[in-house]
Amino acid sequence: MNIGVFGSGMVGQALSARLAGLGHAVMVGTRDVGRLLARTEPDGYGNPSFADWHAEHPDIQVGTFAEAAAHGALLVNATNGGASLEALGLAGAVNLSGKVLVDIANPLDFSQGMPPSLFVANTDSLAEQIQRAFPDVKVVKTLNTLTAALMVEPERLAGGDHTVFLSGNDAGAKSEVAALLRSFGWRDILDLGDITSARGTEMLLPLWLRAWGALGTGLFNVRVVR
Ligand SMILES: NC(=O)c1ccc[n+]([C@@H]2O[C@H](COP(=O)([O-])OP(=O)(O)OC[C@H]3O[C@@H](n4cnc5c(N)ncnc54)[C@H](OP(=O)(O)O)[C@@H]3O)[C@@H](O)[C@H]2O)c1
Repeated sequence: MNIGVFGSGMVGQALSARLAGLGHAVMVGTRDVGRLLARTEPDGYGNPSFADWHAEHPDIQVGTFAEAAAHGALLVNATNGGASLEALGLAGAVNLSGKVLVDIANPLDFSQGMPPSLFVANTDSLAEQIQRAFPDVKVVKTLNTLTAALMVEPERLAGGDHTVFLSGNDAGAKSEVAALLRSFGWRDILDLGDITSARGTEMLLPLWLRAWGALGTGLFNVRVVR
């Protein structure tokens, strides 16, 4: 399947590599292809530069947000939460129209330092803001409660016996995304309901960030015990 992944960071790279490994034709979307490929320094966390990562994944195409949107039959939003609406605007409503958008972004506000707060919460969410801005896009919120490496390889932890959440208004879009999650190895996929339920998973982030600080690793997750 043709998949457009908006986002050149850790999450965009993890999703793109895994999807390409599963045989999908992936295009990463970015603001400026030339500028992205010219980045040869490791990022702030010591991860390899995008250019080095791309050299390891030459089968993955790189385009503008609009080119990636036009390429994808299915789309992934892995952009910075504070810039997601701007990035999707650059992708172009016409290129997004009618498609499933897997939304992984979190509404983190780093303006007051660490740990970040949420710039939208309680009565609204980033996923709902995206759904309102692009009403004919089928937004499915998932994977935002996990570190990038675990999103695509749940077996790395507890034999994969932990939970990933799903929120969205369109039942068909959610089953398509659940099938994709199963192809990554996910078994416990908990459908929380419509897109307003993304408030819950976005608001898990304050807990996630504190647990990350306490544990010193992002390789952990919640398991919903029934
Ligand atoms: N890192 C994790 O493990 C993790 C876990 C769960 C959820 N998330 C969420 O996943 C998303 C991606 O995280 P990340 O760490 O991979 O990368 P990130 O640094 O949060 O975002 C990088 C992407 O955002 C785009 N971007 C930044 N400012 C922009 C602007 N003003 N206009 C348009 N696009 C802009 C960048 O575009 P360019 O390519 O043009 O630079 C890049 O593609 C975030 O929302 C994050 O909260 C991350």
